[in-house]
Order: sequence, then structure tokens, then C-alpha cells
Amino acid sequence: MALRNILTKEQPLLYKKSRVVTDFNPRLHQLLDDMRETLLQANGVGLAAPQVGVLRRVVLVLETNVPEGEDEYVIELINPEILESSGEQDGPEGCLSVPGEYGLVKRPMTVKVRAQDRFGKSFEVEGTGLTARCFCHEIDHLEGIVFTSKAERMLTEEELQGGANGDDA
Ligand code: NI
Repeated sequence: MALRNILTKEQPLLYKKSRVVTDFNPRLHQLLDDMRETLLQANGVGLAAPQVGVLRRVVLVLETNVPEGEDEYVIELINPEILESSGEQDGPEGCLSVPGEYGLVKRPMTVKVRAQDRFGKSFEVEGTGLTARCFCHEIDHLEGIVFTSKAERMLTEEELQGGANGDDA
């Protein structure tokens, strides 16, 4: 496994659309393993392949809604699509590609996603709260959308010092 560089918002590749994955080969597995290491090392809650310079529909989401005493875990999603969404949340959101900046973004409270695993097997997964926010944020990355374009407004320096920042995805 190896750490990959995370692109920042100035880099044009982040605004391009990612392509569907058709080969579930060792190269994909290497990408997933590297992305996992990069995500955990950066203390993020999600990471999309374009953030490490690969325009493929691959994302990782950290499931943080786990019973007390259990470990958070990383969900690998290849070719993810949102099947259903419900409710609404409005809160601070951040991105590993936009370090130190946070903005208020409206997202559904719950989403159901269909994706493939690293072997190409299809599955469905539901996320609530931060996990739902993260699914939406990462799938946006695959469309070349960075959260700053969806934020109602960015948080001020004062708000950030008051601890109003969100998680980086
Ligand atoms: Ni992001």
C-alpha cells in the first residue's frame, strides 16, 4: 500500500467527470488499498478517486454510525448511484481537497446507494446523518462537483474558531 497525493481545489482534474469502472482487477484493488491508507492517514470521512488523480467511479466512505464499542469501518463503493433519499440536513461540510475551509450544505438525511464491491458484486447500503452527507459528497466528486459550489455560504474565521467546522470528505 502507498499513500497517494490528494489534489487540491485549484487542480482542473477535480472538475471533470469520472468514468465507469468495468475491470475489477488488481489495479483497482491497489487503488482501493492506497485510497484507504490515504483516507485514514488524512483523518477524513470519505475520499473519491478523482481526489487522488484517477478519473474512475470509485469512492470510500467511513461509516461512523456504529454501536458503542465497535470500530468505524470503510465502505468501498464502485460505480455508486443514489437510489432513494429522504429528509434533509443542513450543516457544515468540508473536503480533503479544500483544507481548512467549511461551508453550509443542504443534504438528504438518509440515502440508499447501490454500488459494486471490489469484485464487481452489486450491493445496496443505507446511510444516515454524516454517512448520508458523505455518500452525496463523494458521488458529487465523480461528477466533477466540489462542495464549495453547493454551499449556501462558507463559514467565517470566527465560526471556525468557535469549533463549527465539519468533517473532511
Ligand atoms: Ni471532498
